[in-house]
Amino acid sequence: MSRLQMTVNGQAVDLEIPESRFLSEVLREDLGLTGTKIGCNEAECGICTVLVNGTPVVSCSYPAFKAAGTDVETIEGLSAGGKLHPLQQAFLDHGAVQCGICTSGLIMTSKALLDEKQAAGELPDEAAIKTALKDTYCRCTGYQSVISAIRQASGQDVPPYIPETGAAGFEVGKAQPNPDALAKIRGTAKFTDDYQFPGMLYARTLRAGVPHARIRSIDVSAARALAGVHAVLTHEDVPGRNLHGIVDLDWPVLCADKVRYSGDAVALVATDSEAIAAQALDLIRVDYEELPAVTDAMRAVRPGAPEVHEGRPDGNLL
Ligand code: FES
Ligand code: FES
Repeated sequence: MSRLQMTVNGQAVDLEIPESRFLSEVLREDLGLTGTKIGCNEAECGICTVLVNGTPVVSCSYPAFKAAGTDVETIEGLSAGGKLHPLQQAFLDHGAVQCGICTSGLIMTSKALLDEKQAAGELPDEAAIKTALKDTYCRCTGYQSVISAIRQASGQDVPPYIPETGAAGFEVGKAQPNPDALAKIRGTAKFTDDYQFPGMLYARTLRAGVPHARIRSIDVSAARALAGVHAVLTHEDVPGRNLHGIVDLDWPVLCADKVRYSGDAVALVATDSEAIAAQALDLIRVDYEELPAVTDAMRAVRPGAPEVHEGRPDGNLL
């Protein structure tokens, strides 16, 4: 444990924390600032972006102690005092918030761009905005509304993305803000991963890790014996039918005798902490007999292709 001192949204912070902690963990878990969201948790998607001394960083992989002595800004700090930052207002105006998981990352990344352009006496054009957002992913909006919002926030005159077409006095045809957009742009909206309860357990799934294999055995004894483990579940613990599916019921909840893709679930653990959950997964031993894999659609329909679901009349076709 070591002492970390920094400023977060203008407030001095002084914490004793493990040296291994990342900035996102300090913000979300130690300070309760869950407006910073986690997507990939491995520096790929950018949605966890916060500003450290004005520079955007991906907080999920930014060592917390690297932020010692700095000013950290998160989405919660933008509307401190109740007044929305121009970026937040523009995201509302342009309908640039959909599911909202990326919103704080997009806004914080954009804030760094606007601050930089403002200091240089420039306005960001579309190319500059696209470059700034190239590492911050949004899978809902298609970005056009986001780009318009950023241009509006910089002071450019940008018409609303959805023009109002309704006759006076009628609501149909008028752009309406997404009802939960305000909470999302302020960082106060709670997603499942943002909740903490006293005595909460952490669940993780052991995935197959091989594309096609027969399961010879699953040994969970070492994982069950680990301190802090409350449950290790396999197919033997699934009550009733151990199948689900979208078209057919052909997908095991927890695989018993075979795995059919790398992401197939084999076991679940429930533990006192995320770290113990990771340890417990490492202790589960699955003995596989690997089978030839079907790696693309054309190979799947060739005569003699490995059968992913044995016994289906149409082979590998649905
Ligand atoms: S959650 Fe940090 S980059 Fe994806
Ligand atoms: S609003 Fe859903 S990913 Fe961006």
